Amino acid sequence: MSGNLSVGIHDLSFSTTRFVLTHATLAAHNGTDIGKYHAGIGQRSMSVPAVDEDIVTMAAAAAAPIVARHGTDRIRTIVFATETSVDQAKAAGIHVHSLLGMPSATRTVELKQACYGGTAALQFAIGIVHRDPSQQVLVIASDVSKYELDNPGEATQGAAAVAMLVSADPALVRIEEPSGVFTADIMDFWRPNYRATALVDGHESISAYLQAVEGAWKDYAEQGGRALDEFRAFCYHQPFTKMAYKAHRHLLQNCGHEIDEARIARAIGLTTTYNAEIGNSYTASVYLGLAALLDNADDLTDQAIGFLSYGSGSVAEFFGGTVVPGYRARLRSGPHREAIARRQPVDYDRYRELHEYSFPVDGGDHPAPKETTGPYRLAGLSGHKRIYEPR
Ligand code: CAA
Repeated sequence: MSGNLSVGIHDLSFSTTRFVLTHATLAAHNGTDIGKYHAGIGQRSMSVPAVDEDIVTMAAAAAAPIVARHGTDRIRTIVFATETSVDQAKAAGIHVHSLLGMPSATRTVELKQACYGGTAALQFAIGIVHRDPSQQVLVIASDVSKYELDNPGEATQGAAAVAMLVSADPALVRIEEPSGVFTADIMDFWRPNYRATALVDGHESISAYLQAVEGAWKDYAEQGGRALDEFRAFCYHQPFTKMAYKAHRHLLQNCGHEIDEARIARAIGLTTTYNAEIGNSYTASVYLGLAALLDNADDLTDQAIGFLSYGSGSVAEFFGGTVVPGYRARLRSGPHREAIARRQPVDYDRYRELHEYSFPVDGGDHPAPKETTGPYRLAGLSGHKRIYEPR
């Protein structure tokens, strides 16, 4: 590591889908008490991709404002994290690189470890910048969460992409050493290569998450990390927003702290505002939590934020960050709120159609209908190739 060099998140931007299904609509269809969705799991609505939207179009839409603001001169690496990859071989980031007209002198790679992949990408990017502080790394986390219709996981679906520029002397958040890390071999949530929808043991996955929080925190403490009460707020991975509360309560109990619900709400509440409307965005979720906190909190200058990233299977990491003076001038709060507000509600039948749609796999020409209102679209499939274009 290069001395006291400060490295972290220099810019952050997210995008989501054209369509949205409210939990009120889902509850009216399946007869669930809406209280279970709104209060029980803490979700209001879920982003639903149009046929011509996917992890690539969302990722390019998230990254485009970053490239427009900072240029590409210093970006020599793109790390794209996803667990809903569109190809088994080619990195989705190469499509983004092409759509954004980035220079050929770039290394581009895709990373996977369930919802934890975005944090792996961030940490690897920090390592690259420490090696050469003149370089910046474009980190993208993009996912579409999809369970079978009428599965308990259905209510936790969602979709979004977060793009972050990782740089020396960052303008938003300095990421600190140490990290607390944790791995356990467990089948709580997974998606075999032949399936479009995830498999999950729902209640087991909640216990696995809590166990991982405990393990990552234990390692963080052993590595000499901050004390729990030094943190102003905590960004947790949010498969549904009530999970962040469960996780934080578990951590407090584990550290022998009293459970004070008002204090927990102050530490977590603002981090859930975007995820409650977007749903689970897997790799992007913890960083949507950060976006919501930075965009909506009063001044956080010099405050410490705790991050807990969890990916089923399972891997977790706890680390800290400090908010940088002047950060508010660099936020994208307006476009972020607009991305959520402009989604078009769909009724249950239309949602079901979109959920069940898949392109034919015969290698023929299959143009996609023009639906997205975003800047990039999936034009269709031809010869087994995905073709992307600016809209
Ligand atoms: N009013 C208010 N609250 C109500 C209610 C009502 N009418 N009815 C139920 N509730 C509450 C329940 O008490 C429960 O709250 P607590 O957990 O605090 O007790 C909550 O609503 C959910 O109720 P159930 O547990 O009965 O719901 P369920 O059996 O349908 O399953 C779930 C919920 C397990 C989260 C399911 O949605 C699921 O399988 N989701 C996908 C898996 C997942 O998100 N796992 C999280 C950890 S794994 C991870 O983080 C990785 C990842 O991204 C997938």
